[in-house]
Amino acid sequence: MRMYDLIMKKKHGCTLTEEEIRFFVDGYTKGEIPDYQMSAFLMAVCFRGMDEKETLSLTMAMAESGEMLDLSAIHGKKADKHSTGGVGDKTSLILGPMVASLGVPVAKMSGRGLGHTGGTIDKLESFPGFSVALSNEQFISNVNRMKLALVGQTAELAPADKKLYALRDVTATVDELSLIASSIMSKKLAAGSDVIVLDVKAGSGAFMKTYEDARKLAELMVKIGNGAGRKTYAVISDMNQPLGFAVGNILEVKEAIEALNGRAPEDLNDACMTLASYMLLGTGRAKELSEAKELLRESIETGAALRKLAELVKAQGGDERYVYEPDRFPTAKLSYELKAEADGYISEMLTEEIGMTSLILGGGRETKESKIDLTVGIVFNKKIGAKVAAGETIAVLYANDDDRLRAGVSRLRNALCVRTEPCEPLPHILGVVDKS
Ligand code: URA
Repeated sequence: MRMYDLIMKKKHGCTLTEEEIRFFVDGYTKGEIPDYQMSAFLMAVCFRGMDEKETLSLTMAMAESGEMLDLSAIHGKKADKHSTGGVGDKTSLILGPMVASLGVPVAKMSGRGLGHTGGTIDKLESFPGFSVALSNEQFISNVNRMKLALVGQTAELAPADKKLYALRDVTATVDELSLIASSIMSKKLAAGSDVIVLDVKAGSGAFMKTYEDARKLAELMVKIGNGAGRKTYAVISDMNQPLGFAVGNILEVKEAIEALNGRAPEDLNDACMTLASYMLLGTGRAKELSEAKELLRESIETGAALRKLAELVKAQGGDERYVYEPDRFPTAKLSYELKAEADGYISEMLTEEIGMTSLILGGGRETKESKIDLTVGIVFNKKIGAKVAAGETIAVLYANDDDRLRAGVSRLRNALCVRTEPCEPLPHILGVVDKS
């Protein structure tokens, strides 16, 4: 079998067999297929797609490309959550501690930023000393001891996805349904949790731009998860504006700490409560959504969830004082207040462009080797539907370099639309898929 032929086959829109899919997954994982051939193949998939059977074969080949974690030594039903990628999405930092503080084991496997979207690992590394490089034994023992541990994708866990994820990030081949479904589900299946809650984003800042595409992705992933014996739910949530107000690693961590102190913006609160409720429902910790929400509210009000975040940070080598004193975090040297030019209402926020602005400011990777600047980003004062007066600040941009700041300001200006007619705020939760 030759990779050249498989590229050609996909270029012409043909269906690949399971054997062919295993061939390129194994060959790429072992380094026998070079990046340039895999990039061409991924681009062909972006134009031609893969059917359900191909997607399932790709998922299983990637899940089995490394070790499948055996979490049976963890007591109780374990929950994991994964987002398809968004802008300002800091939900894992909030709901992981909330759910764990209620006694449910959260064995969380997270990723880094991808394309214009942020990643939980980059955010957590804002805590000096924090490490996601736990051995399997440490991971299991931490979850047993404190109900929460968070690891990055190790070289052993779904290594095919790890390599493909990094390649897709820099070859504009992220936003394809089968590639996203197989990437997420291969990791989730290999990481071994019993309950998987997926946050499928829809809108201008998501890889799926329309509700219909997001629903297709949600249904496909729920089918793959349930088919593999994991209780899987997908919540479809809006990504036509950033989640919460902050975009950028440290800025988002600070907003997450605010949320754990009971001061979450409404959309962020809705997203965390809904996703966390399904984690409680799936593991049997709550019988109904209303009971789950009540328990979660208590976890915030009593401070238990905030303390759990501090425990997580400390257990993984980080400085937990930052949880209680977020002013310790370093800040960017430069800032710029973007002001409204006229009276009106915020009618549109082109959210992928907002993610790209954060990347330009230094908060994302431009090549596989790029180092990110954790201090930069944007803090908005307004959401869609809000009234603004001429001269009022809509957002503040943070950077450490004049050129980057200038480029970021002009990109952000073009991403925001103010109209004279009033417009409605956006709904946050668009749907749930809980059966396949
Ligand atoms: N998150 C992932 O893990 N993979 C994707 O492809 C997109 C989001």
